[in-house]
Amino acid sequence: VDCFFSLQFGFPLHFTSGVWDTGNPLFADTLRRLEPERQHRVLLVIDDKVAAATANLFEDIEAYFTAHSSSIVLAAPPVVVGGGEDAKNDITHALELIGRINRAGLDRQSFVAILGGGAVLDMASFAAAIAHRGIRAVRLPTTVLSQADSGIGVKNGINLFGKKNFAGTFAPPFAVINDIRFLETLARRDRISGVSEAIKVALLKDPDLFDHIEAHAAGVAAGKIDAMQVLIRRSAELHVAHICGSGDPFELGSARPLDFGHWAAHKLESITSHNVKHGEAVAMGMALDVIYSVRRGFLERAVADRILDLIRATGFALWNAAMMEKDAAGQYRLLSGLREFREHLGGELHITLLRGIGASFEVTEMDEATVMDSLHELEVVGRTPLEPMAR
Ligand SMILES: NC(=O)c1ccc[n+]([C@@H]2O[C@H](COP(=O)([O-])OP(=O)(O)OC[C@H]3O[C@@H](n4cnc5c(N)ncnc54)[C@H](O)[C@@H]3O)[C@@H](O)[C@H]2O)c1
Ligand SMILES: [Zn+2]
Repeated sequence: VDCFFSLQFGFPLHFTSGVWDTGNPLFADTLRRLEPERQHRVLLVIDDKVAAATANLFEDIEAYFTAHSSSIVLAAPPVVVGGGEDAKNDITHALELIGRINRAGLDRQSFVAILGGGAVLDMASFAAAIAHRGIRAVRLPTTVLSQADSGIGVKNGINLFGKKNFAGTFAPPFAVINDIRFLETLARRDRISGVSEAIKVALLKDPDLFDHIEAHAAGVAAGKIDAMQVLIRRSAELHVAHICGSGDPFELGSARPLDFGHWAAHKLESITSHNVKHGEAVAMGMALDVIYSVRRGFLERAVADRILDLIRATGFALWNAAMMEKDAAGQYRLLSGLREFREHLGGELHITLLRGIGASFEVTEMDEATVMDSLHELEVVGRTPLEPMAR
């Protein structure tokens, strides 16, 4: 007996400014879109840094729910959870949240609405996905990285056994709402670090976006949100287009076309115990694979220089000494990132490289000697002061 079935998945991505302004119907309309007549129960989960940094947040939320009480109601007071990678590093945070979901009496038609950075979104989406085998989750990303990239996806998870995202599910959100105003309270470093993911999708898919980021590089490096608004939006749209259009949203195959620069980035994050942030590590990982692309004859040197200049002009370092760290056996630790990436993909390596801006392709092997030569070159480039961009 064979049993085959298919289901349709999908979710809207909305952009707004001031999601809790009582005159802004977006949040209420988003939740009621399938059953407009019902009053929908909502448990709000809030990143503690957002709760601390946003003036009048709880008053605004309460006023919003009061103004829209015909369609939404708080099932319990908002739950504040610790933000940052710690949220994912200990499973008790997800279990605690499942306890809250239980005590609030949420059912499968209720909502968990999550306000926070990528880490809180991952952890709370995971809790929502396994409670009752799946409660509707609405994501409201509050960092540049999560609005441009991680908040948009269909993946959630927590870290287990010291391994990133070891436990998690593929669970499309009910909706994603990007509110630009949340970014105002972010530290400069957190603003900039998310921009590398936009540079990444520009390099892979969108030369016009690359030009745009080049034209706004100084504003980005200064941490100005208005200089980032277009690139965040375009990056988010490109990520959605990938999920909906790539034919493999649940990553059943081995290819990871959006993971440009990520094999080295993931390793660098763990070598530095996350002192180098994900976005910062991605910037360095992309720089390494750009130089590698040149050394293997795929990419013109002048194009590579333009890319490296942009990464630096937007405020990123190209180089970190931890990239050259050796283990007890005298092996470069970064290189084991290639092996771990291969294992994560299921045995066959798939690395995305560049032939040009907006022109990517895949290789299934990396020459370790060339990777090391590229690393040495990157160290020299990374230590050379940046000249003002000629334009
Ligand atoms: N699910 C996916 O597909 C996917 C993809 C890429 C990355 N990720 C994950 O995303 C996480 C990184 O996300 P991130 O870069 O958003 O970092 P983060 O969630 O760690 O947030 C960075 C810091 O900013 C704080 N913060 C969040 N919003 C704020 C605001 N508006 N004002 C002030 N402070 C605020 C957080 O509390 C945290 O301390 C990683 O765990 C990574 O694995 C997930
Ligand atoms: Zn990433």
